[in-house]
Amino acid sequence: MKVKQCSCVILLYFLTLTILSSLVASQTCKNSCGQIPIKYPFGTGLGCGDPRFQQYVTCNQEKLTLTTHTGCYPVTNIEYSSQVIHISDPSMSTCACTQTSKGFGLDWDAPFSFHDDTVFTLLDCSTTSSPIYRTNGAYDVDSNTTVIPQCDRTGAPICSFLYSCRAISMLNLPISTCCVYTPVDLGPSFEMDLQKLQCTSYSGFYSFNGQESNPENWKYGIALKYKFNVYNDYPSSCANCERSNGVCGYGGAYDTFVCNCPGGLNTTSDCFFRSLYNHCPRLLPRHTAGNFLIFSLAYFMVRVLF
Ligand SMILES: *[C@@H]1O[C@H](CO)[C@@H](O)[C@H](O)[C@H]1NC(C)=O
Ligand SMILES: *[C@@H]1O[C@H](CO)[C@@H](O)[C@H](O)[C@H]1NC(C)=O
Repeated sequence: MKVKQCSCVILLYFLTLTILSSLVASQTCKNSCGQIPIKYPFGTGLGCGDPRFQQYVTCNQEKLTLTTHTGCYPVTNIEYSSQVIHISDPSMSTCACTQTSKGFGLDWDAPFSFHDDTVFTLLDCSTTSSPIYRTNGAYDVDSNTTVIPQCDRTGAPICSFLYSCRAISMLNLPISTCCVYTPVDLGPSFEMDLQKLQCTSYSGFYSFNGQESNPENWKYGIALKYKFNVYNDYPSSCANCERSNGVCGYGGAYDTFVCNCPGGLNTTSDCFFRSLYNHCPRLLPRHTAGNFLIFSLAYFMVRVLF
């Protein structure tokens, strides 16, 4: 193929693509939600990302939210390289603010688990009636089992620091009403039921931010881990799609992979426009059926016109 003819084909190819793209709706799946970049397995709406995550993490009015049976939690950050999602709980206490919390729970079937960095501190617990204070070997009538105390004694400094915060110190609570609950394992119910635990609030953080003795600067919130699948490998079809500026999604009766391209077109592989533009002679072996059709059409038009 001559160089001149090649560029003509490409020009027509893009013309055809532009016309086709304008016929379909704009890109359904976005690659960001507010300030947060969105990549697989997350998505901004129905048909975007991975179907297993779609019902738990949603983008509404540019706000990314995690929903569990205990409430809705703003997603503050996603660390894609380490597969960690950070959320905040507006009802939790922090160094700046104490309030009555609702507690927190994960859905048992949600594709998330607590990250090891997450530390929960139960606040203002009843030292006489809370089950967390039962001594070793005590018998719990309700569950007919022997319970062991759940507070981590080595975490006591965390309680001291937290109770030294102005917002908490004003309540004048004895330090014994604080319980560091880690590693976080909410038991078979996956729920921290503060009513049952007889505590009025909790605080969660996932980093001391380099200053363990300065609770004002801790990173409050909850860190959750996620996995792509049982082998935890990134689907290569999705990686190729994202590399070509597409957003991974799913569709059809079997929720099969869809690459949602910037123009709104869906393909089963990648969006491919850039590689075509950059590597004119190498495009033939890489293109997909859909692209091939458009390309052939363009080529045919060139042959007819010149
Ligand atoms: C492309 O895929 C998205 C996500 O699955 C879907 O919502 C949209 O309707 C599809 N668009 C076209 C033109 O098929
Ligand atoms: C408690 O458990 C024991 C043995 O597991 C059982 O024999 C007993 O009947 C149980 N008691 C109640 C009140 O359920």
